[in-house]
Amino acid sequence: MQEVEKIIDEKIQGKALVTAKRKENTKKLFIESYGCQMNMNDSEIVAAILDKEGYNTTQILEEADLVLVNTCSIREKAETTVRRRLQKYNAVKQVNKKMKVGVLGCMAERLKEKFLEEEKIVDLVVGPDAYKDLPNLLEEVYEGRDAVNVILSKEETYGDISPVRLNSNGVSAFVSITRGCDNMCTFCVVPFTRGRERSRDPKSILEEIQSMVDKDFKEITLLGQNVDSFLWYGGGLKKDFKKASEMAQATAVDFAQLLDMCATHFPKTRFRFSTSNPQDMSLDVIHVMAKHKNICKYIHLPVQSGSNAMLKAMNRQHTREEYMALVDNIFKIIPEMALSQDMIVGFCGETEQDHKDTLDLMEYVKYDFGFMFAYSERPGTLAGKKMIDDVTADVKKRRLTEVIDLQQKHALYRTQKHLGKIEEVLIEGTSKKNPNEWKGRNTQNTVIVFPKEHYKLGDFVNVKVEDCTSATLKGRAVGYSENN
Ligand code: SAH
Ligand code: F3S
Repeated sequence: MQEVEKIIDEKIQGKALVTAKRKENTKKLFIESYGCQMNMNDSEIVAAILDKEGYNTTQILEEADLVLVNTCSIREKAETTVRRRLQKYNAVKQVNKKMKVGVLGCMAERLKEKFLEEEKIVDLVVGPDAYKDLPNLLEEVYEGRDAVNVILSKEETYGDISPVRLNSNGVSAFVSITRGCDNMCTFCVVPFTRGRERSRDPKSILEEIQSMVDKDFKEITLLGQNVDSFLWYGGGLKKDFKKASEMAQATAVDFAQLLDMCATHFPKTRFRFSTSNPQDMSLDVIHVMAKHKNICKYIHLPVQSGSNAMLKAMNRQHTREEYMALVDNIFKIIPEMALSQDMIVGFCGETEQDHKDTLDLMEYVKYDFGFMFAYSERPGTLAGKKMIDDVTADVKKRRLTEVIDLQQKHALYRTQKHLGKIEEVLIEGTSKKNPNEWKGRNTQNTVIVFPKEHYKLGDFVNVKVEDCTSATLKGRAVGYSENN
């Protein structure tokens, strides 16, 4: 009896301690993220690190003790947006004088100490691999010194941190599986800001997914700059794989195996992944996708250009013909697959014929979705140093419009193919346009809206598609799907 009382006592004390710790979380963190999904996920990691330091997140900028902006360097425009936000923080700081401001992510890594000189408002500059150092850096800041850590790591994958889910719908979440990129596309700043490519231990990936499943999340997107080159051999640094023992190499886990593991372990969870680089994508991945109903039939497969000359200048490691063969094989194995592209128009030396080749490749694939950009020279990249940004702004603009228009036509062609079909949809939230309608996505990642009726957030339902635009399907639920 005494023993039982002791245990209960300890439990109560333990609980009191937890409550006390929560109470200590008096400081307020305002964190916002620009750029890719990886940045969104990194901000969740940062929120988890700072939760232990007594910070709760707030949506109200004016009441923040600490403001962090997770930045993107991919194009000049992304950087300009962040500079404008810094001006806004500056205005708020005139009133809330105690507020500290930190810059995280790719711009922090690219500009380093220069940031402190260029933007007087900034107290703290932290690169993507240095977030665990935030508690020390904040101590410096509170002692009145500026603090910078932009050291890139060969190991850091934040595998041991359980992210605090920000702006979460409670249904879908991201889990990072690789960091960095070794591909060195000549236009791209990512290898410089995010460092060498490294994969995370599958054990810690499965543990994180388990914790999300326990919290009732229904869909997990496996994230990386280059997920298809995932490789865990006891270590995760891609460039050292060849130095590993024969045994380690023979038992290494690649992306297809990881995906198979995830889908098998969590049969009720939907899986997505992003981003796939065509040169690293193996047909094994497509076969694993075909094998599991719970792996969504959608691949983001950026090509950047349809011209062999441009692909070569960009240091993409495949030709137009190889890409087309990959697409043919994908459709052969999974005819209902949805594909999306990233496309850059107006890269150095791009001729009218190169541009036509891009339009022609798009016509061949007829992508479901697309993300299209005018080339923006980035300092430090090979193209920035060695090539001439010689396509005029006007020509870039016109080519971009042509590419976007064609993509819109193909998107409509693809959405129309869903008309009349009954498709499984995961309910992710209320439609923005109509509070009486749910929105969710089918396996192909196409957004679909339908009347709410008695269905709930997080339900898997079968929806009959009745109408469409180029971006959205409209339908009516006909019952729960078997996965529910
Ligand atoms: N593998 C990454 C790619 C990151 S960059 C991922 O996870 O998404 C995203 C896209 O931005 C690229 O595919 C490319 O189309 C575009 N991009 C990159 N650098 C660019 C530049 N300098 N100018 C214009 N677009 C660029
Ligand atoms: Fe950038 Fe190419 Fe890697 S686009 S992220 S260097 S695959």
